[in-house]
Amino acid sequence: IEYDESEEADAHAGTLKHAAKELTTTDYPVAFPTETVYGLGADATRSSAVNAIFAAKGRPADNPLIVHVHSLPQLRALLLGKREVTGDGKEGGKDPIPDIYRPVIERFWPGPVTIILPVPDNSVLAPEVTAGLPTFGARMPRSIIALSLLRLCGRPLAAPSANASTRPSPTAAEHVHDDLSTKVRIIIDGGPCEVGVESTVIDGLSSPPAILRPGGVTVEQLRQCPGWESVVVGYKDKQAEDSSKPRAPGMKYRHYSPKAPVVLFEAGAGKPVFEELRTKSSIGIIRTKSWEPVCNLAAEKTGSSNTNRQASCFPTDAEVYPEPGVSSSRLANLLRSVVQHQIPHADHYIVKPEGIQAWDINLGAETENVARGLFSALRELDKKRVETIYVEGIDDKSGDDIAVAVMNRLRKAAEIRT
Ligand code: TXA
Ligand code: MG
Repeated sequence: IEYDESEEADAHAGTLKHAAKELTTTDYPVAFPTETVYGLGADATRSSAVNAIFAAKGRPADNPLIVHVHSLPQLRALLLGKREVTGDGKEGGKDPIPDIYRPVIERFWPGPVTIILPVPDNSVLAPEVTAGLPTFGARMPRSIIALSLLRLCGRPLAAPSANASTRPSPTAAEHVHDDLSTKVRIIIDGGPCEVGVESTVIDGLSSPPAILRPGGVTVEQLRQCPGWESVVVGYKDKQAEDSSKPRAPGMKYRHYSPKAPVVLFEAGAGKPVFEELRTKSSIGIIRTKSWEPVCNLAAEKTGSSNTNRQASCFPTDAEVYPEPGVSSSRLANLLRSVVQHQIPHADHYIVKPEGIQAWDINLGAETENVARGLFSALRELDKKRVETIYVEGIDDKSGDDIAVAVMNRLRKAAEIRT
């Protein structure tokens, strides 16, 4: 049978129409891919549909949802409290979208950045979407499937990540199925997500503007936008942060957590793990700095060059095994070698060769690949039922790549309070 592109397009169109019908005529949420992670969508203007999202995820009601739109006119309608989109959505030639966001929207939409906007008095959004806040988050995703679905629905879609609450976000349809198969009837499979971590949530209504959640658009990229030169992660003004209505809700909850505890290695923060390892029978290792040819799915896709190589922050031999004369490599290699019975004097190590099973996932040395593969790796190791997951952190000091978002998620997964 010859491959027929138009037939495939038709098949997709059928799927999307079916999904749009589910979203507009029932309260069942629909899971769909975006460029960041999979979202669990519902008509943002109907409380019953929005409530079904919270129920399916087991999400606390005080954690607001992001509203997804397919166009600026659709967003303007929301800001003016209108159900229908007319023309370009401006009223009397005035744009209801605050000026501060203009350069950000021009540069990054459609794309992985969510902006915080005021809820108008006559809002058509279901109040559950905003969890009672005077603001709502909005974003225009760049995934073609997400945009098409939004257009077909003709309604804004409230969509958090499509994981069960507290679990790592889903970056493949299979992850959604693992968490929510009994709760949703439709999961649109768009393959693995391009970015792999969620959108950057930014607040331009505060002064100075703030990043509430680092994500797919980097700190440095934002700083290049007029008005955003001094943006930092978190509110500069401590008062705004401490006020009784937190403006970054949801951050207080447990997040991105696999079933196994996560131990994160960060540069300069050595951890005495070897004693602890003695008690384990099965562990997972996620490596992020390879001195070997990279062999992971994400890297294969883009072709990996090792230009972004960083010094490992797994503990050095000296830190974990200060006995001179016993040479090996760093933690990951050591463990693997021990497991593979390759070190002649393995008995010298605290880890017993036959005693421990290690699942080793190498995400490669490129930050984008680490971001793309991270949540999937955490989920994969959970499926192996490992007791603890050891993760090699990456350097997030510079702010000019997605490492800030990666380390933010990892510190939360490891329950390190910052
Ligand atoms: O990339 C993404 O943003 C994905 C995809 C599906 O679009 N969505 C996502 O949604 O990550 P969720 O619900 O998992 O995370 C939404 C974040 C939460 O941290 C929430 O607290 C914050 O956005 N948020 C939503 N509305 C807000 C508001 N009015 N003020 C402050 N933060 C808000
Ligand atoms: Mg989420």
